[in-house]
Amino acid sequence: MDLCVSMAPAILQGYVHPTALRFPSQPHRPGQLKQYYLLNAGVLALQVRDGDKVLDLCSAPGGKALAIMQTANPALLCCNEPDSHRRDWLVKTLESFLPQSQTRKAVGTVIVSSQDGRSFGQSEAGTYDKVLVDAPCSNDRSWLYSSSGQQGEQRLRERGSLPGLQAQLLRAALAAVRPGGIVVYSTCTLSSCENHPVVERVLNTCPKAQAEDLWED
Ligand SMILES: C[S@@+](CC[C@H](N)C(=O)[O-])C[C@H]1O[C@@H](n2cnc3c(N)ncnc32)[C@H](O)[C@@H]1O
Repeated sequence: MDLCVSMAPAILQGYVHPTALRFPSQPHRPGQLKQYYLLNAGVLALQVRDGDKVLDLCSAPGGKALAIMQTANPALLCCNEPDSHRRDWLVKTLESFLPQSQTRKAVGTVIVSSQDGRSFGQSEAGTYDKVLVDAPCSNDRSWLYSSSGQQGEQRLRERGSLPGLQAQLLRAALAAVRPGGIVVYSTCTLSSCENHPVVERVLNTCPKAQAEDLWED
């Protein structure tokens, strides 16, 4: 949330509350826009500008896509999600927060795609100004304190294969971005092997990509 407050353009409002506070959720109603969406603000590092072509490679349920649309007017925002249930959720999010003129098929700014993100590098190489890889991750926050030990064990097993998938997605993003464009890799896990080592591994094999230090921002 600190990040949100310091980096956010004025149009994107950040709220900081001294104690834990739960915002009430708002039900999905087709044709009716919702008032707020809660998310972390890593997407601001993408620095989306008006007229950009943006790819949100792992998009559901769509929180970062909404943040992008709130900070700029991209020429195109391609929201990609291969999982059909999660894609339905993504479509509902977009319908709940964006006017129909932006999401209408064929004419809208925002399109939904269903590819495996790993194939974007070949299918749309050098196409986008900005690419967000909000990667699938072990999301330890959601299960670490869960009462279901079984769920925790399953997640621990799955965790081993995630860095490989994450590296493939990041490589695809680097291929899909135009020369001079920006790629942001983000996760919501504390598991260190899914964070810096993934980025380092990919940078070692992509000599044209340069890492940017965001600490000062
Ligand atoms: C952390 S979530 C994304 C959250 C989303 N960016 C947001 O702000 O609401 C990661 C997403 O990546 C999707 N995913 C999993 N494997 C993928 C793949 N091979 N290519 C693209 N997306 C994938 C998952 O289904 C999941 O919806």
